[in-house]
Amino acid sequence: MKILIVGSGGREHAIAWKLNQSSHNPEIFAAPGNVGIMEIATCIDIPVDDIDALLTFAKDQNIDLTVVGPEVPLVLGIVDRFESEGLKIIGPNQVAAQFEGSKDFTKAFLTRHGIPTAAYGTYNSHEEATCALGKFGFPVVIKADGLAAGKGVIIANDEIEARAAIDDMMKDLVFGEAGACVVIEEFLVGVEASILCFCDGLTLLPMQAAQDYKKAMDGDLGPNTGGMGTYSPSRVIDDAMMGTINRTILQPFIDGIHKDGIEFKGILFVGIMIDGDDIRVLEYNVRFGDPETEVTLPRLKNDLIVIFEAIISQKLDEIELDWIDQNAVCVIMSSGGYPENYEKGKIIRGLENVSGATVFHCGTKMSDGDIVSNGGRVLGVTSLGDDLESARAGAYEAVRKISFDQAYYRNDIGK
Ligand code: AMP
Ligand code: GLY
Repeated sequence: MKILIVGSGGREHAIAWKLNQSSHNPEIFAAPGNVGIMEIATCIDIPVDDIDALLTFAKDQNIDLTVVGPEVPLVLGIVDRFESEGLKIIGPNQVAAQFEGSKDFTKAFLTRHGIPTAAYGTYNSHEEATCALGKFGFPVVIKADGLAAGKGVIIANDEIEARAAIDDMMKDLVFGEAGACVVIEEFLVGVEASILCFCDGLTLLPMQAAQDYKKAMDGDLGPNTGGMGTYSPSRVIDDAMMGTINRTILQPFIDGIHKDGIEFKGILFVGIMIDGDDIRVLEYNVRFGDPETEVTLPRLKNDLIVIFEAIISQKLDEIELDWIDQNAVCVIMSSGGYPENYEKGKIIRGLENVSGATVFHCGTKMSDGDIVSNGGRVLGVTSLGDDLESARAGAYEAVRKISFDQAYYRNDIGK
């Protein structure tokens, strides 16, 4: 069996690592992949948004199954293209990918189906958006409607910041057309959690929840990032709360897509805000989370290929997920300066000294025989442990063995 993974991050490395353990012994390809993925897969130099080239490659190589990591190719319609050629692929089609590709699409869906979320308005002109600010109070959340590489959400503390965010998005188009329309939203307080679910269009099968540390610095200070570390299972969500989430958020999603005639196959990532009994949806993503995947798949006992095949044949109801009864912690080692300006090309040393932890590569490449950094997030170091503290200790012990110039990581992941 030949599998193609589209993407080049820690998430895709974790997917490749897990698929590599399948009893189906797949031959794995990755486009474009990274140095870590290269150890278990053949990497091919095709960017994730070159759908034509990916399709040609999949047809030429007789790829049996394609797994899409990031949102961009999904929003571009990679699934529709592959399926129209009779190829099997894991991910939602272009209509369903709007759950991540358009904040307005998601907010309208949530509201239409009575799924709890922050109060909002959608505005297509600068004047409407600035006039609407008075309705919300401060802080207020300003969101570019479209994809903005994780940077399109601004929490504005006062009117000056809010107007500046609207100017940036709608006048200066700093996120291009993605910001020509904005969603303005009530600011929610509470604790966030990430619930990743497998979905075959009929059944939503939640994985055990993960906690992501989104802020750049210890103590949740500094700017938002793609995620500086994760742990799983969540300590915030217990069985009773999961029952509530199933009843008020997950089942209504399935009912809602049926009513709306939306087909959703793939991974649904539900970002929620929990404030006591008040649990609301912050966002949907239409893919695995990064670095949530790096603490979720190492704990999953099931064969991932069996789950993917059940998604394609719409038999997810026959699958029961089984988890290793341990905790996982993933610490992201990033380039100094991330998420703002940072340098790439730093030589990474010490990887060979790591034992007892798994190093997922997020942004690496080979250069003159050395492994060098090639992104803001460079490595995701995951350790399992019988309790959260030992998983945490294992991850940090491994992190301390790895070095590169200006390497940066948070010290409080899993604390
Ligand atoms: P989103 O891409 O919509 O999830 O937004 C990215 C991050 O911004 C979230 O993970 C939250 O940390 C924060 N955020 C988004 N919407 C809100 C909100 N209504 N209230 C508070 N924080 C929010
Ligand atoms: N860690 C958050 C995300 O994958 O969007």
